[in-house]
Amino acid sequence: MITDQSFPWNSWRSFPAAQQPDYPDPDHLKAVITKLRKRPPLVFAGEADSLREQMGRAARGESFVLMGGDCAETFDGSTADQIRLKIQTLLQMSVVLTYGASLPVVKVGRIAGQYAKPRSSDTEARNGKILPSYRGDAVNDIAFTEEARVADPERLLETYQQSAASLNLIRAFTKGGYADMRRVHTWNRGFTKNPAYARYEALASEIHRAIMFIEAAGADFEALKVVDLYSAHEALLLEYEAALTRIDSRSGQLYNTSGHFLWIGERTRQLDGAHIELLREVRNPIGVKIGPSATPEEVIGLIDKLNPDGEEGRLTIITRMGADKIRDVLPNIASAVARDGRPVVWITDPMHGNTIETATGVKTRDFDTIMNEVEGFFAVLQESSLVPAGMHIELTGDDVTEVLGGSENLDELRLNERYETRVDPRLNHQQSLEIAFRVAELLRQSESFDE
Ligand code: PEP
Ligand code: CO
Repeated sequence: MITDQSFPWNSWRSFPAAQQPDYPDPDHLKAVITKLRKRPPLVFAGEADSLREQMGRAARGESFVLMGGDCAETFDGSTADQIRLKIQTLLQMSVVLTYGASLPVVKVGRIAGQYAKPRSSDTEARNGKILPSYRGDAVNDIAFTEEARVADPERLLETYQQSAASLNLIRAFTKGGYADMRRVHTWNRGFTKNPAYARYEALASEIHRAIMFIEAAGADFEALKVVDLYSAHEALLLEYEAALTRIDSRSGQLYNTSGHFLWIGERTRQLDGAHIELLREVRNPIGVKIGPSATPEEVIGLIDKLNPDGEEGRLTIITRMGADKIRDVLPNIASAVARDGRPVVWITDPMHGNTIETATGVKTRDFDTIMNEVEGFFAVLQESSLVPAGMHIELTGDDVTEVLGGSENLDELRLNERYETRVDPRLNHQQSLEIAFRVAELLRQSESFDE
């Protein structure tokens, strides 16, 4: 039970905390946290409640969740243009998925807060020089100098400001007419005009006819101009997340107000760790990523800690097993959860288990392997009579060249053309739309399978 006296929410401090920055000046950090605790919430409790309800519907097969955005947002990259293109990409994907699934799509961006990264190594070596790893713009700078890599608490304040500015723009774009389905559909028509994507023409024409039908039947398109786009990020930096954890004045309950949906990454999901403790008591919908080493016992342990009463929409498990492992590892986990009976929102992240390095040392992923993991995810869950409720993708609205393949056949030689990601390779605008069309096809098949 949380009371005003036990606030701020500090119990996580007595648990082991993985992946935290090493701040050279603890007093500086304290001063920044004191400031942050006085800042207004970035999102509101009622919005988090709506998302939790929508996630619950997705778990019952009544909607489909699309989560997507950068691996690592950057301060420099949080420009109006880049945010607009990301939103445009998510909206375009949503229209295609809505049609394919014949279901509403719950739209969640890895956006407005995705500034901190867990790293597999604390240090990075280049030409014999060893420096602390880059941990995201919320922590340090990517330049390979001693000074740049020092963890600077002021960056937490900038994270807050950038997130607030991004959320402001997101609200303007999604409530101000930009999201009109007819406009979004026109963008999609542009995509399928490209000969490389001719195989999606038939589906795009069907969507076109459906939209003309709705319009002819006199539906109120004005009402469809307004959409909800929720924000999500990895709840990695405990001090920041705790500073934005607040008591909701309506209900007296705790909410993390740094984003609507928070997830715990594969590297920080220890059952007795500080990250689980931090998110255990907040009412937001939350997620946990699980990789190929996860066991059925661990996943039941996560449910025990994070959703003991089995509330719908509260807990999402995001699987990121790798295309070559998902069909072996997920079945036992899925059947244990099915037997347990408490509801889980199952989402596939087909990106993080499929990262490879080219011979020249470029980190990339292959479009076909990504699709292969999505297909494996659908197949395994359907086998256990569970619902594949959504997908979690790293993408950008820009024409970057970071992921191999897709119909335009991006090859290794082209990776250098426009490789901009700070951490993991992202699907570009075209590849993102292509995956939406492919998943829409899958969703249609599973629907006819249900009938
Ligand atoms: C990420 O989502 O960028 C990430 C680091 O994922 P994971 O925790 O699954 O490795
Ligand atoms: Co990533």
